[in-house]
Parts: sequence; C-alpha cells; structure tokens
Amino acid sequence: MTHTTQKRLFIKTYGCQMNVYDSERMKDVLAPLGYTSVDAPDDADLVLLNTCHIREKATEKVFSELGQLKRMKQSSGGKMLIGVTGCVAQAEGEEIMRRQPAVDLVLGPQAYHKLPEMIARVHRAAKERLETEFEVEEKFDALPSDRQADGPTAFLSVQEGCDKFCSFCVVPYTRGAEFSRPVDAIVAEARSLIRQGVREINLLGQNVNAFHGPAPVLEGGDDWNLAQLIRHLAKIDGLERIRFTTSHPRDMDDDLIAAFGDTPKLMPYLHLPVQAGSDNILKAMNRGHTAEHYIDIIDRIRAVRPDIAITSDFIVGFPGESDADFEDTMKIVERIDYAAAYSFKYSRRPGTPAADMFAQVPEEVKDERLQRLQALIREQQTAFNQSQVGKVLPVLVTGKARNEGQMAGRTPYLQATHFECDEDLTGQIVNVRIEKATLNSVGGQLADVPETVI
Ligand code: SAH
Ligand code: SF4
Ligand code: F3S
Repeated sequence: MTHTTQKRLFIKTYGCQMNVYDSERMKDVLAPLGYTSVDAPDDADLVLLNTCHIREKATEKVFSELGQLKRMKQSSGGKMLIGVTGCVAQAEGEEIMRRQPAVDLVLGPQAYHKLPEMIARVHRAAKERLETEFEVEEKFDALPSDRQADGPTAFLSVQEGCDKFCSFCVVPYTRGAEFSRPVDAIVAEARSLIRQGVREINLLGQNVNAFHGPAPVLEGGDDWNLAQLIRHLAKIDGLERIRFTTSHPRDMDDDLIAAFGDTPKLMPYLHLPVQAGSDNILKAMNRGHTAEHYIDIIDRIRAVRPDIAITSDFIVGFPGESDADFEDTMKIVERIDYAAAYSFKYSRRPGTPAADMFAQVPEEVKDERLQRLQALIREQQTAFNQSQVGKVLPVLVTGKARNEGQMAGRTPYLQATHFECDEDLTGQIVNVRIEKATLNSVGGQLADVPETVI
C-alpha cells in the first residue's frame, strides 16, 4: 500500500445550495488523495473558490478574493495551488486565467470528477488548466456514491441545469440543460448518508420539480416525477424528513401538490420563487406563468397542507418595471403571506436577454422598492414565527447553539430553533414547546409530551 501524505484543502463556497453540495462532493473526490478540509486558507495546499455568477456583485467578489489569495500563495513560496470552480469558472474561465495568473486550475460545475486529474496535470506543469465541458452524466457516474456526512441533515443533488431561460438569469448558461439522475443512484447515495446518521435529506436541483429520472428496473424503469421519487425515499427506515429545493411554478404538478398531503415525511415547507407580481413583468421575464396561476398553485397546496410555510425569491427593478408593476409585487406578497423570502435588486448580466432591454430602472428606484418589499417580508416572517408560540413542535437537533447550555435545530417549517438543554441531542427529533419568536428564530423548552404528529 502506498502512503499518501496529508494535505490541507480549503474550499470557500458562494451562491446556492447546489454549490454547497458540490463543495462536499469535491471533498469526497479529494479525500483519497490525502486532502483533509481546513477552516482557513492560511497554509492550505489547495484552495478552491466555488463561485456564483448570479449577480454582478457575486462575480466581483471572486476577483478580489483571488487578489488576496495570490499574496498568500507568494508567501507560501508558490506551494499553494489555487483553483476556481462553479459558475464564474464556467462563464468566465478564460477571463479568470488572463486576469489572475496565480490561478492554477479552473473547473466548471460538470467537471468536478476530473479534479484529481487536473491537479496531477498542474503538478506536471502541463498547459490545460481549464475544464468547462458539459458532461453532467459522466460527472455523477464518476463521483463516488459514498458520502462523508456532516451532521444529521444533508443535501443530495437529484437534478441539474435549467431549460427555462428566464430573461434575467445566467443559470441556463452556467449549468447547462436539465438533467435528472437515475433513482437507483439517488437511493444509493441516500442510504450512504443515512448509514452515517443523516435523518433529513434536502433534494436539490436548479429546477428540482422538473425531475424526471429513470426508475429502478424492478419498478418498471419508466421515468418518475419528483413526487414518485419522494414517496420511494420515504420508505427508507431511518430517513425522517425530506425536503426539496428549488422549484419552478411551471413544474408544480398535481402529484407533487398531493404529496404534501399524503407523505408525512415530506416537510411542510415549499420554496417557490415567483420573482414579481405583475403579469407584464412576468412575461418580460419569460417566466411562463401569471400571478393568478401562482396564487392558484399555493391555494391548492394549502388545501392539502394548511400549515405549510411558503417562501419565495423576488427581483425588484427588472427593466421596464413601473410603479404600478411594483405595487402588483407588493399585492402578491400580501395575498400569499410568506414565511420568509429573499429579494434582490435586478442585476444586469451581460449575455442574457434582459441585459439589452430598454428602460433599465435607476438604482435609487430599485433601492426604494427593495426597502419597501423587505419591510413587508420581515413583518410576515416575524408574524409567521410568532404564530408558532405556544405550540409543541418536533425539532431535528443539528448541534449546539451559540449560547452555553442550549441546543439548536430546525422545526418542520425550517425555522432556526434553540432550546435549553445540557445534553448533546444532535441527530434526535425532540419536542420543543415554543415560547418566543423573533425575525430569524424561535426558542423554547424541551416538552415532555408524546410525539406530536405534524
Ligand atoms: N432555479 C431557481 C434559482 C435561481 S437563482 C429559480 O428558478 O428560482 C436564485 C434567485 O436569484 C432567483 O430566484 C432570482 O430571484 C435571483 N436572480 C437570478 N438572476 C438574477 C439577476 N440577474 N438579478 C437579480 N436577481 C437574480
Ligand atoms: Fe434561472 Fe429561471 Fe432557470 Fe431559475 S428557472 S435557474 S431563475 S432561468
Ligand atoms: Fe450562483 Fe450558479 Fe447557484 S450562478 S446561484 S452558484 S447555479
């Protein structure tokens, strides 16, 4: 047996949960080469920036971070390897190499299984430092099905890519076309996680509810939708909670809506981005649905699961957004009553159709609209958290809380929760009587009552 020397790996992750998942998988791929994760870039042998291209600011951060890393690399005598992965790597690979020669390798999101090969090439001082082909099938086949779990909850990618081409968005260009993994591969990965103590799995995809992966041969081998996958996973002992993100309104089919009513392991939480409330803007965004269609979906989900927490993403100041259009966004927020939501100022992304639209909205107008929208969302979020006060909720304990003598976890509605407890109950689902609520969390006491059904 050969002896691998220990090497230090630091990965900094930007952007969405898909990137968080991918960073974990890169650690899995690099572990056999002797790389172990460290918490800071100082003295690391390999630093990877797993980047996000969604808004201009996210992209800028990467270049300033690279400037700092370059200095660290110099003081390490050039020993530190620097890699850029993720969506900026995919979109601006050539540019990165030109602007920052300290970068040793650039890999797009479909090439992570090639990391060991790329590192070997760098050590041989070869020229090919850029790998941004789209070969998503190969990526998943080549990644090990064994996972290193980190705590009782885990992400699991089931779908990648996007065919929707919203006119503001870079994702279809950085992540490629929609692709769904086979159910067997997903189950194998889920079982590996559960063996290591994972009790909650969050199924990921840029358009996760467009999932249509081939079923196991014994189950007929036809393509399954997301609801069928969820019901299948729900049969696995030891897996207690299932979530999925992110969904698109156009793919919210009747079967998935029904699953919220018939599959208790599917948590009462749905992130369903609407982006805007005006039909004119939704059309210009190429979202493929109206405000009414979105409201109808939420009403139907609430009919089968009245307590469900609904969250969303919003963009304010899309080109051409008038005052009246923005008021329609405020109206849909009032109508839906969200448990939480993310909102962003429209960011012009070169190469996307909206970047060339006339009537870009002035920055001050965007600022003002964002503040009004966020104030309303904060109000709703606080009200949602306060509505849990007095209830006993099953909380999946994720670890110690920041305050001494407290543990932290999540309610079925994904609320951050803390409760007094001296014992380390990580990984257990315990009943907590909720006594107080703020904008960002709920808190309470362990409740000595029989398990509540939720
Ligand atoms: N596939 C998901 C997530 C896409 S990116 C979806 O369809 O919802 C996450 C969020 O970033 C989007 O929902 C959108 O609100 C925001 N976003 C995407 N492009 C943007 C842009 N150019 N400017 C501002 N926000 C943007
Ligand atoms: Fe982007 Fe739209 Fe695809 Fe979401 S659905 S990733 S917003 S193009
Ligand atoms: Fe960002 Fe790419 Fe995710 S652009 S939001 S990291 S898919």
